Amino acid sequence: MGIKDAKWITTAYELGDIAPVFCRGFKAAQAVERAELQITALGVYEARLNGKRVGDFVMAPGWTSYKHRLQYQIYDVTDLLGGTNELRVTVGRGWFRSPIPGWLNTEDKKNRNEQPCGLLAELTIRYADGSEERIMTDESWSFGESAVRFSEIYDGETFDARFVTGEWQPAVLLDWSKDILIEQEGEDLCEQERLTAQKVFRTPRGELMVDFGQEVTGYVEFTVDAKAGDTVYFNHAEVLDAEGNFYNENYRSAKAKVRYICRDGKQTWHPGLTFFGFRYIHLIEWPGEAGPEDFTAIAVYSDMHRTGYLRSGDETLNRLFSNIVWGQRGNFLDVPTDCPQRDERLGWTGDAQVFAKTASYFYDVEKFFRKWLHDLAADQRESGEVGEVIPDLMPDGPGSAAWGDAATIIPWQMYQTYGNIRVLQDQFDSMKKWVNYITSATTTPDLWTGHFHFADWLGLDAPSGSYKGSTREDFIATAFYARSTELVIKAGKVLGEDVQAYEALYAKIISAFRKAFPDYRTQTEHVLAVHFCLAEDLQQTADDLAALVRKDGVQLRTGFVGTPYLLHVLSHYGHSDLAWDLLLRREYPGWLYPISKGATTIWEHWDGIREDGSFWSKDMNSFNHYAYGAVADWVFEQAAGIYHDEVHPGFTELIYEPHPDARIGWLAARLESRQGLIVGSWLCEEDQVRYELTTPVPALIRIGGAEKRVGPGHYVFRDTGDITRIE
Ligand code: BGC
Repeated sequence: MGIKDAKWITTAYELGDIAPVFCRGFKAAQAVERAELQITALGVYEARLNGKRVGDFVMAPGWTSYKHRLQYQIYDVTDLLGGTNELRVTVGRGWFRSPIPGWLNTEDKKNRNEQPCGLLAELTIRYADGSEERIMTDESWSFGESAVRFSEIYDGETFDARFVTGEWQPAVLLDWSKDILIEQEGEDLCEQERLTAQKVFRTPRGELMVDFGQEVTGYVEFTVDAKAGDTVYFNHAEVLDAEGNFYNENYRSAKAKVRYICRDGKQTWHPGLTFFGFRYIHLIEWPGEAGPEDFTAIAVYSDMHRTGYLRSGDETLNRLFSNIVWGQRGNFLDVPTDCPQRDERLGWTGDAQVFAKTASYFYDVEKFFRKWLHDLAADQRESGEVGEVIPDLMPDGPGSAAWGDAATIIPWQMYQTYGNIRVLQDQFDSMKKWVNYITSATTTPDLWTGHFHFADWLGLDAPSGSYKGSTREDFIATAFYARSTELVIKAGKVLGEDVQAYEALYAKIISAFRKAFPDYRTQTEHVLAVHFCLAEDLQQTADDLAALVRKDGVQLRTGFVGTPYLLHVLSHYGHSDLAWDLLLRREYPGWLYPISKGATTIWEHWDGIREDGSFWSKDMNSFNHYAYGAVADWVFEQAAGIYHDEVHPGFTELIYEPHPDARIGWLAARLESRQGLIVGSWLCEEDQVRYELTTPVPALIRIGGAEKRVGPGHYVFRDTGDITRIE
């Protein structure tokens, strides 16, 4: 029983750009008690039963490592069924047949692009008398052209509202694996926020633009009163250029265009088989007058439950918090991606690794990451190497330190945030395989040498013309080798596994590291040496880091690898004032500078837009790249002071150790943990700080050198050492 009994079907011939629609008519023999549709596609599908959309899953069946795993969805369609019925399913190219990545021409990509589309579905109808009827994809289905004349992840969608499928032909069977089928495992992908346009305006160059006031990932819904044959045609953009004109060169080869041919009358439409990352649209063609009320940006992302909130007395900082959350929304569309706009939109492992902790505070991402980690394990190569992106659409590309370590760091983080051992059980083999891979691939035992790496990607201390910061690559690689080995040991202990061999390896890596790297040269080298406990004298190294940051003009010089831990290291070792200086810096480089340039999401480069309005580059310049948003986990843990130690995963016991800063007046953090609601806030009064804590679990309060253990409850106190319980 179930979808596996159905047969894969496809079109009798290739329809090129046009998305096919598959169709099957049937009659319900008698009163229906329940009807359930199980369905998936090679591509992305939209199913309609008697003209009504089935479910609210967008971009179904989602994105997995299709060679190994393809999700199917199950919908209760009882209410959509009548006596005479017709099931129609449109299948777009989706990720399955997309030319991903945009800038590489590989054999794998060529093959992918030439794959056939496919549909597999089973509708089970249970009648009132207890009998059942099953309608499954097979030769009895028909196919035709749909009104979707073109649809593709990077390039956009073309829809002809006048088009009516006229010619139906028999669908043909497709020989495709059914062993890859898995029931929906990730979060559903759904339409979320709807943002009405803020304004319609003309640029100095005369372009007609719509501004939504917020960068989102999803698509634009519009309403237009038109004549049949009129065209709505628009392009997408994240920012305007220095003169205030339309600009989207940074999308690179992704065309990101929507073309809609109108029917007669008032009509409302949005694309449904692709998505875009944008704040603006440029109306290249629009019949009649355009007003803001005609346009709505619809955000599309995984249906995760929101768990974390930050708010402070500083509006710029609040905007940063909002930008980080929007960065997560915009890049958690079934797979954690680097960016949603240019010809990438890939599950870059490094970016996900960097942001996973922050992500796990703002939203419940356990299910989201468990699915993706299963793909990571499925795509892990024979050697144990983890590719640059998951799903691995660059199977010939090398992995890299701090990217492949997503294999160990993310499972451990999910376990830490949620306290659920299952993710470790699922991933333990994959974690070990990654460490074993390094052991087998290195050219120097106990260090990781002789391999390609992305290094401290985008580090500000990069030599001119390079994306790679100056931190030594073998330093980073060995530091992460140590970290991943340590996490295998920790996970193994939780699982009751024998990890002696890894303990021996870990000891050897540490001693080899200390011999090979007796000195630390860059900010990132100091950060890693302390954060991964590699340095012999952690306090001294952290103090040296603080001195180096000061010497650098109280500016960070770190990239993807060092930045996420920089403030943590400073705060942990008594330099919170400096951590705050870095966070609150309003000039480049720093988290708040982009906000002065109108940022509504996190940028790939601190100076994506420079002071004079010019762009950092037109090539690698995403305005929705969540990686540096990882600073929010410092805000939760150190600034607001809510964290737990590793032996209390899932916040079963809390440590409350805030580091207030009078410059922002107050800070409040709210975290819906698996144990219940945690709220921590502080308010700087004239000469003291007022703290307020709600904890559902026992907590260790640490303020100004004093420590006190308390039970669950609500506490208000000041930094006088006097902690008063308020029931
Ligand atoms: C992506 C990054 C990614 C990097 C690898 C870029 O093109 O956008 O975020 O991690 O490549 O270094």
